[in-house]
Amino acid sequence: MEKLVITGGTPLKGDVVISGAKNAAVAILPATLLIDGICTINNLPNISDVKIYCEILEYMGAKIKWNSKNEITIDTRNISTTIAPYDLTHKFRASYYVLGAMLSRKGHVQVGMPGGCKLGARPIDQHIKGFEALGATVEVENGNITAKADKLIGNSIYMDVVSVGATINVMLSAVLAEGTTVIDNAAKEPHIVDVANFLNTMGADIRGAGTDIIKINGVKKLSGNATYSVVPDQIEAGTFMLAAVASKGDITIKNCISKHLDSITAKIIEVGGHIEDYGDSMRIWCDSRPSKANIKTLPYPGFPTDIQPQMGVVLSIADGTSIINESIWESRFQYTDELNKMGAKITTNGKTAIFEGIETLSSAPVYACDLRAGAALIIAGIIANGKTEIYNLEHIDRGYENIEEKFRKLGANIERVIE
Ligand code: UD1
Repeated sequence: MEKLVITGGTPLKGDVVISGAKNAAVAILPATLLIDGICTINNLPNISDVKIYCEILEYMGAKIKWNSKNEITIDTRNISTTIAPYDLTHKFRASYYVLGAMLSRKGHVQVGMPGGCKLGARPIDQHIKGFEALGATVEVENGNITAKADKLIGNSIYMDVVSVGATINVMLSAVLAEGTTVIDNAAKEPHIVDVANFLNTMGADIRGAGTDIIKINGVKKLSGNATYSVVPDQIEAGTFMLAAVASKGDITIKNCISKHLDSITAKIIEVGGHIEDYGDSMRIWCDSRPSKANIKTLPYPGFPTDIQPQMGVVLSIADGTSIINESIWESRFQYTDELNKMGAKITTNGKTAIFEGIETLSSAPVYACDLRAGAALIIAGIIANGKTEIYNLEHIDRGYENIEEKFRKLGANIERVIE
């Protein structure tokens, strides 16, 4: 078993380079299934979710060549099956993007039920509603989702909830459909824009990504023959920014898009941190105990739910009492039990948590219950008195490239130990 051992108490200092976005990468990889050709993707984060996606694509007949640890060339001319089996798909959530892509490319797809972080109910009704609006029939049985259509025809779809996954999946399914598809009440996250940019680079005709209304004019074929670079990871950037604030550090994050971080920047300033914004890099520092703040998670451009646990660590040591309202997921406060083991005073009630700030956390053995909870516990370990041990690293490795090396370079005393 692997664990991270962190001896806390060192303010973070120095530079860190942000990797490509996990949530863009795990949508761009299945989007290659739409291409009858070869393309190259770089700035891919070297994380386990990406490696598993490559396994799924290879299983389906794609040929993948790793040019470096962050770049692949992928040939999707000879897709040999429209089935992605459960033993691969259950490992993470984004495996469901195979549905939209293969439905569009081949008119048939069967995908084993997706897995992913246990954050509460994760229905896919909006994905199905979108596929059906384009003329597909969708069945869920025996742990598989099957979608088929003789022909997909563009249509207008109003999303009942703002959903990242449904927006991307329906966009994928519409790329090769006949006519125009309009997605209304679409999600606006930077990774949605990135997937649309990738597809347009490969020959698609998608307009309006990043706004509430996305229009997809169906094209006959995507031929690839281009190189695409994945957008920097806004959640990884936010994780390091909040680690700097919590540790009273002074760091510069490089390879970021500061505009994508506006909601996080605003909260950092509210709690007493400082920011210098250079557009594609940012300096973040904090020289006093953070002050209290209230947070409500919202779809982009609101405060991201995927940064809520990391912000929770900052608020656990803030001067005063803070409230977080989690509006996206039902059970995203499981990490607070672990922080309470470290002395935090957090009480939860459904989708609300109250953080009574204490001066310092103390070390404890703790368990990552999901990906971002794991990142939050690393920050907690970095600021705690004593030696913290973090278990369940497989969650963290799903989404952060070289996380302990990056923190070590910033001065953290952190190592991975195999027991
Ligand atoms: C994506 C991110 C995840 C992030 C989340 C919200 C990826 C791989 N994962 O997850 O890290 O926490 O966005 O920013 O990109 N919903 C429905 N019906 C649907 C789909 C969603 O009711 O068909 C609801 C969900 O239960 C949730 C809300 O919509 O309450 C948002 O979910 P969604 O944006 O779809 O999240 P994911 O795409 O799964």
